[in-house]
Formats: sequence, structure tokens, C-alpha cells
Amino acid sequence: MLNRNDNCWCESGLKYKKCHLEFDKKLRDLRSKGYITPGIELIKTKKQIEGIKESAKINNGLLDLIGEKIRVGMTTQEIDDLAYNYTISNGGIPAPLNYDGFPKSICTSINNEVCHGIPSKDVILKSGDIINVDATTIFNGYYSDASRMFMIGQVSDAARKLVEVTKECLAIGISEVKPWGFLGDIGAAIQEYAESRGYSVVREFGGHGVGLDIHEEPFINHFGKRGTDMILVPGMVFTIEPMINIGGHEVFVDEDNGWTAITKDGSLSAQWEHTVLVTEDGIEIISQ
Ligand code: MF3
Ligand code: CO
Ligand code: CO
Repeated sequence: MLNRNDNCWCESGLKYKKCHLEFDKKLRDLRSKGYITPGIELIKTKKQIEGIKESAKINNGLLDLIGEKIRVGMTTQEIDDLAYNYTISNGGIPAPLNYDGFPKSICTSINNEVCHGIPSKDVILKSGDIINVDATTIFNGYYSDASRMFMIGQVSDAARKLVEVTKECLAIGISEVKPWGFLGDIGAAIQEYAESRGYSVVREFGGHGVGLDIHEEPFINHFGKRGTDMILVPGMVFTIEPMINIGGHEVFVDEDNGWTAITKDGSLSAQWEHTVLVTEDGIEIISQ
């Protein structure tokens, strides 16, 4: 245990008593009352937060670039090429490439694909498609993660509505993040909103801590109950990335590639993702 006059564990250069002493006390107190609290490894230091923000600059720039280039007739392999080249030329590494055997630099999930779609030269974007492009960048050892939807050519009203409501689901989830609030409030609010619009929330995949690794604790459900799960505290960095289906919530993973999640009933699915930081008095969206 640190003494009051030791340097703080967060490497701020301040004495413990002037820095995280009260914070640690508060966490211990909550833990003793039975609340779930994050381990110290989930509290990012100032230096780590700066590193994650640098990584996010590349990740955001990449998604901006894809937004400018994406069009009817483009293959998802061309999106992958953009991702690889842009990331490498900016000094980063595409985190998906070779992660657990994932073969490409970015995920491209079209229409009834929920997530983890694999770019291919055989998949050509056509008018009416909706596509999620999910980018994860490593820069200087720090990870950032975000995804956006793109509507290709003329899309149906039903598809457009799904894309819009899913974006609202992300915004609503983010608005629930409060220092010393409950993680469970995020999923509860998203589920309430999505289901009130007649949509369903995918259960198998969720948001996650991020920053020093691609997937850290905690797992963030996009459904659930208010007042449950981990207490969110300043310094935590995690993603919110709701996957919303027009039909049922059930999904299956493509047996041929072992990655791509697809809706069981074939209905359209959409997803938006941001990386957020919990601050002393609110939050910061790192991926914008
Ligand atoms: N970016 C994805 C996420 O939001 C993770 C991609 S890992 C991959 O968690 F291997 F599928 F690319
Ligand atoms: Co993610
Ligand atoms: Co992602």
C-alpha cells in the first residue's frame, strides 16, 4: 500500500495524497459494500490516455477516408487496402490483421452481417447495401476502436431507419456513462430504445475495455438492467458498439470463415461504435 507522501501510482508526479488517495478510498469503500469495481489495471494514466488519443487520430482519419472513397462498385478488399495502406503510412498497425487468425486489416459487415465481416475481392458494393466498417488501430502500443455505417447508393427506407436508430442507440448509451455510475445503465437504455422502435439487440457481442489491448475488461452488454454491473470510474476507456437487428436478436457465425456473425432470420443489422473515456466530471468521446 502507498503512503500519503509517496508518488502516486498513476505517474502524475504528484504525491499520493494529492492525487489518487481519495479515489482509491472511494473504490475500497464501494467494494466493501458489495459493488463491482474496476481493477487498477483498467484505470488509464494520463500518459496512456494521450497514447490512446494519438492512436484514435489515425483510426478516425481512416474512417473519414473510407467515408470519402466508399461507393457503388467498390469491393470490400479495396476498403481493406485503404485501411492497410493508410494505417501503415501513418506509423500504425491494423489491429485486426492476424488477431486470432483474422485475415484482414478491417471488418466490413454488409446487410444481414452483424459484425466481423471479412473483406474480399469478390464482394462488390451495390446500390441499396448498408455496410458497417469497423477499424481498430495500434499506434505506439496503444489501441483505439470505432465503426460507422455507410449507405451505398439508394437504400430502402427500412434500411435507412435502422441505420439512424442504431446511431441513436449509440448516442443514448454514451449519454448514460457517468463517473461513479453503473455500467448496466448503458445497456438498459440501449435496449429500451431499440425495442421501443421494434428492433432487437444482439446479445453475443458487446463493447469492451480498450487501450492497452484490443479487448480488455469490462464486457459491455447492450441490454440489461439499470443499477447493475460494474461501477464506472474516471480513467476507464471502453467502447460502446450496439448491434441492432430489424428482426430477431439471434445470430450465427459463418462456418466457412469462422468469423462473420450473421442474423439467423436474415434480417438487416446495423452497428455504430465509439471509444469513450470516463473523466472526473463526464466523458470524452475519443473516436471523433
Ligand atoms: N473492432 C472489433 C471490435 O469492435 C474487433 C475486431 S477483431 C477482428 O471489437 F479480429 F474481428 F478483427
Ligand atoms: Co470494439
Ligand atoms: Co470495433
